[in-house]
Amino acid sequence: MPTKVEKDAFTGTDTTGHEWDGIKELNTPLPKWWLYTFYASILFAVVWWVLYPSWPGINGYAKGVLGSNQRLDLDHRMAEAKAAQATYYDRLASASVAEINQDPELLNFALVGGQVAFNENCAGCHALGGAGQSIYPTLADDDWLWGGTLEAIEQTINYGIRNGHEQARFNEMPAFGEILEPAQIEDVTDYVLSLGGTSGNAEAAARGQALFAENCASCHGDDGKGLQDMGAPNLTDPIWLYGSQRPQIVAQIVKPRQGVMPAWSTRLDPATIKLLTVYVHSLGGGQ
Ligand code: HEC
Ligand code: HEC
Repeated sequence: MPTKVEKDAFTGTDTTGHEWDGIKELNTPLPKWWLYTFYASILFAVVWWVLYPSWPGINGYAKGVLGSNQRLDLDHRMAEAKAAQATYYDRLASASVAEINQDPELLNFALVGGQVAFNENCAGCHALGGAGQSIYPTLADDDWLWGGTLEAIEQTINYGIRNGHEQARFNEMPAFGEILEPAQIEDVTDYVLSLGGTSGNAEAAARGQALFAENCASCHGDDGKGLQDMGAPNLTDPIWLYGSQRPQIVAQIVKPRQGVMPAWSTRLDPATIKLLTVYVHSLGGGQ
């Protein structure tokens, strides 16, 4: 088809030379700024393909000459974080719990790690935050069966209580149902109640006091405030493992429960035990 470029009389613009049935096409090219931006983006894309990971292939993808991508960056950052953690773990492994407790940086790390380990291993019995539940003692108060110093807590966690481990804490309250007469058990119960401030039968409590001195004071102390070497609870405070009501106290005297706590030295590594120790100590009742 013959083409003839001419100027359009009406608009003053060149035509392309195409003509259909007397209709001529004006030649209005794209604006220059648009065209150059377009070319620049193509160029940018090509440069990007070359530098960064781009085309998928059969055995993987084009890696790009810079060898960098966000996945590698992430791996790198994870490795750095792991290394930082490893340094902490090394320091924890060689420090004593007392040293950890005095080093703010280590302590911070230990409290976070300790909380995670506690939620995983201990909260099932002692409840979140060591709040305690049912027969499992609260670890967040300053009432301790076996002691609330860092060393005492670490030992309790390592070897547990009455679990058969040869280093486990052990002491068993005898079943006084087989030792005392029922009336004597009632009397000593009156005395225990009076220790807690409940005034009942004063005569019975007085008889119970003598029985207590004879049968109970060796573990619970002359004043009934408990002896931590024995794991024997304080009977004068309002905190009770097995209940503060008369029938519950009688039941404990007749046939005591023997609380069992697992040993953790056989399940957790020493560094984790240290994390747990400073965490439990920090819960509010540490001594
Ligand atoms: C199966 C239940 C159970 C689990 C799990 C458990 N404990 Fe215990 N824990 C007990 C019982 C029961 C006692 C109280 C034993 C007693 O009567 O002397 C106790 C006592 C303690 C004591 C001593 C409290 C005191 O007053 O002296 C500490 C400390 C302790 N637990 C920490 C832990 C930590 C830390 C963990 C997790 C690593 C843990 N426990 C997991 C049952 C459990
Ligand atoms: C050989 C040591 C020993 C002797 C003796 C002993 N107790 Fe205990 N008593 C304990 C221990 C240990 C516990 C904690 C048991 C546990 O954790 O399961 C305990 C717990 C108790 C409790 C429960 C406290 C609570 O918080 O719920 C009462 C009440 C009690 N004893 C009263 C007595 C009385 C009364 C006598 C004397 C007639 C007596 N005990 C003699 C060791 C002893």
